Amino acid sequence: MASSAARLPLPALFALLGALLPGTGSAQTSVEPTEHIIPRGGSMQVTCRASCNGNAVLGLETPLTKKEVDSGPNYKIYELSDIQEDSTPLCFSNCNNIQSTASLTLTVYSLPKRVELAPLPHWQPVGENLTLRCQVEGGVPRTYLSVLLLRGEEVLSWQSGVKEPTEFTTTVLAGRGDHGANFSCRTELDLRPKNQGLFQNSSVPRQLRTFVLPMTRPHLVSPRIMEVGTQQHVNCTLDGLFPASEAQVHLVLEDRRLETTVENNKDSLLATACIKANTEDEGTQQLTCTVTLGNQSQRTLENVTIYSFPAPILTLSSPNVSEGTVVSVECKARAGAVVTLQGAPAGPPGPSAQFQLNATSDDNGRIFLCSATLEVAGTVLRKNTTQELHVLYGPRLEESDCPGNWTWQEGSQETLKCEARGNPPPKVVCRRKGGNGSSLPIRKQILVKRQISGTYVCQATSFRGEVTREVVVNVTYNSNQVVIIIVVAAAVILGTMFAAAYLYNRQRKIREYKLQKAREANAMKLNTPP
Ligand SMILES: *[C@@H]1O[C@H](CO)[C@@H](O)[C@H](O)[C@H]1NC(C)=O
Ligand SMILES: *[C@@H]1O[C@H](CO)[C@@H](O)[C@H](O)[C@H]1NC(C)=O
Ligand SMILES: *[C@@H]1O[C@H](CO)[C@@H](O)[C@H](O)[C@H]1NC(C)=O
Ligand SMILES: *[C@@H]1O[C@H](CO)[C@@H](O)[C@H](O)[C@H]1NC(C)=O
Ligand SMILES: *[C@@H]1O[C@H](CO)[C@@H](O)[C@H](O)[C@H]1NC(C)=O
Ligand SMILES: *[C@@H]1O[C@H](CO)[C@@H](O)[C@H](O)[C@H]1NC(C)=O
Repeated sequence: MASSAARLPLPALFALLGALLPGTGSAQTSVEPTEHIIPRGGSMQVTCRASCNGNAVLGLETPLTKKEVDSGPNYKIYELSDIQEDSTPLCFSNCNNIQSTASLTLTVYSLPKRVELAPLPHWQPVGENLTLRCQVEGGVPRTYLSVLLLRGEEVLSWQSGVKEPTEFTTTVLAGRGDHGANFSCRTELDLRPKNQGLFQNSSVPRQLRTFVLPMTRPHLVSPRIMEVGTQQHVNCTLDGLFPASEAQVHLVLEDRRLETTVENNKDSLLATACIKANTEDEGTQQLTCTVTLGNQSQRTLENVTIYSFPAPILTLSSPNVSEGTVVSVECKARAGAVVTLQGAPAGPPGPSAQFQLNATSDDNGRIFLCSATLEVAGTVLRKNTTQELHVLYGPRLEESDCPGNWTWQEGSQETLKCEARGNPPPKVVCRRKGGNGSSLPIRKQILVKRQISGTYVCQATSFRGEVTREVVVNVTYNSNQVVIIIVVAAAVILGTMFAAAYLYNRQRKIREYKLQKAREANAMKLNTPP
C-alpha cells in the first residue's frame, strides 16, 4: 500500500487528502476556466485562485509546460503551452494548513492528418456491390468527429462519434447512373457545441466507371469459305452494352488483326472489317471477334476456309482443223478436283480427262465443256471452261439449201435462194447455162419476166475448192391475156369498118343531091324566054 501511494501523483494525493480531511472550512481553490478545448500544440492561460483569509500557497500541478505569468494575493496566472494531449491540470492551495484543489478539463482537438478514399475498382460491373473505404488518420476528439461518404454531394453514409479503427466503409449497389460519378469522403469535426467551429476535410474525389457486358456472345457474320484473291466483309454485333462507346472490338483472322470500323448506337455496337484472301492464307483460318468492356470480354469464333480453285484448263490440240483431222481434247484441274469433260468416255473420277475425235463438218462450232468440282469445307464448288472447235470444210451445195427447180408466175416478185455450206463460208454465183452467162441475183427480190426462165449453173467457191449445181427456173404466164388482145383487136377492126362504111354512104348521098340541083338549074334555063 505504501509503495503504491508513493507512486500516486502529487495532485491525486492532494485530492485524496482533501477528501479525507473533513471540514475544509472557508478555504477554497478555484480554477478558471474549468473546461477548455484547444487545438493541439496550442497554449492558454489558467488562473488559480484561493479564497483564504491569509496568504495561501498556490500552485498548478501539470505535466504540461507551464509558466507563471502573473500573480497576486491569492491568485496566480499560468501560461500552458505546446499542449499535445488531453489533460487535467490541478490548481491547489494551502490556506492555513488546509489544502484544497480544483481541476481543469483540458481537451485537445486536431484535424485529421489524412482523409483518403481507397482506390475504386478500375471498372465496376453494374448490379454488383461496391464497397467504399475511407481512411482517416488522426482527428480528435473522436466524439465530435463524423465521417461521411459521398457520391457527388449526396451523402451515402454518415458515421459519428466513431472511435478507432481508422477505416470507414459503406456499400452501394452500382448502377448505370454511377458511371462517371465522383465519390469522396469527408470528415466533420463539429466543435460548435464547444463554441468552436465546424471543421471539414475532404478526400480527393475518385471517379467510378461502371459497365454492363452481356453474357451473350457477339454475333459474328462471316463467309464460311473464300476464294484466294477475293475480299469480303465480316461484321460483328453485340447488343445490351453499357456504355457501348467504351467497348473495344477486335476482329482477328488467325493472328492477323483486321482493320476494323466500329459504330455504336445506344447500347449496341457494330464492327466491320474486310478480309482479303491471300494465297499464303490458304486453309482453315480462325476468325475471332472479341468485345472488351471494363475488365471483361466476350468472344466468338468462326472458321473461314480460304481456298484456291482456278477454272479447269481445257485444251484442243488445234482449235482450227480441216475435216478428217484427229483432234485431242484434254481437261485438267487442280489436285483434289473432279473434272467432267463433255463427250469423253466414262472413266474414273479425277482431276483430268481427255479424248480424241475425227473432226467432221458437224463438229464445226462445237463447244466442248469441261466442268470441275471441288469440295471445300462441305460446299461443292463448280467451275466450267469451254472451247470452240472450228472445222474447215466445203463448199457444199445441197438441194435443201439450194433447190434445183423453181416455178414462178410471170410478173410476180420472187427471190432465188441458194445457200452453200462450208467453213469458211463460200461465195455463190448463179449464171445462165451456156450462152452469154448472165447472172441471176440470189437472196434479192426480182420481178419475174418471161425471159429469165432457163437453166442456171450455181457455183459455190471458197479457198477449199468449188462445187456447182444446176438450177432450173420456169416462168408461167396467163393465156387469158391473149384472148383479151384478140377481142380488143377484133373490136378495133370492126369499129374501123363501120366508120368507113358510114363515111362512104354519106359522101354518095351528098354527090346525088348536088347532081339533082344541077339538073333543076338546067331545066329553069331552058324554060326562060330569051
Ligand atoms: C483539413 O482542413 C484544414 C483546413 O480546413 C487544412 O488546413 C488541413 O490541411 C486539412 N487536412 C487534410 C488532411 O487535408
Ligand atoms: C467528376 O469529376 C470530373 C473531374 O473532376 C469531372 O470532369 C466530372 O464532370 C465529374 N462528374 C460528375 C458526374 O460530376
Ligand atoms: C473450326 O475448325 C476446327 C478444326 O479446324 C474445329 O475443331 C472447330 O470446331 C471449328 N469451329 C467452328 C466454330 O466451326
Ligand atoms: C476420219 O473420217 C474420215 C471420214 O469419215 C475418214 O475418211 C478418215 O480416214 C478418218 N480419219 C481417221 C484418222 O480416222
Ligand atoms: C457449269 O456447267 C454445268 C453443266 O453444264 C452447269 O450445270 C452449271 O450451271 C455451269 N456452271 C457455271 C458456273 O457456268
Ligand atoms: C419442176 O417442177 C415442175 C412443177 O413444179 C415439174 O413439172 C417439173 O417436172 C420439175 N422439173 C424437174 C427437173 O424436177
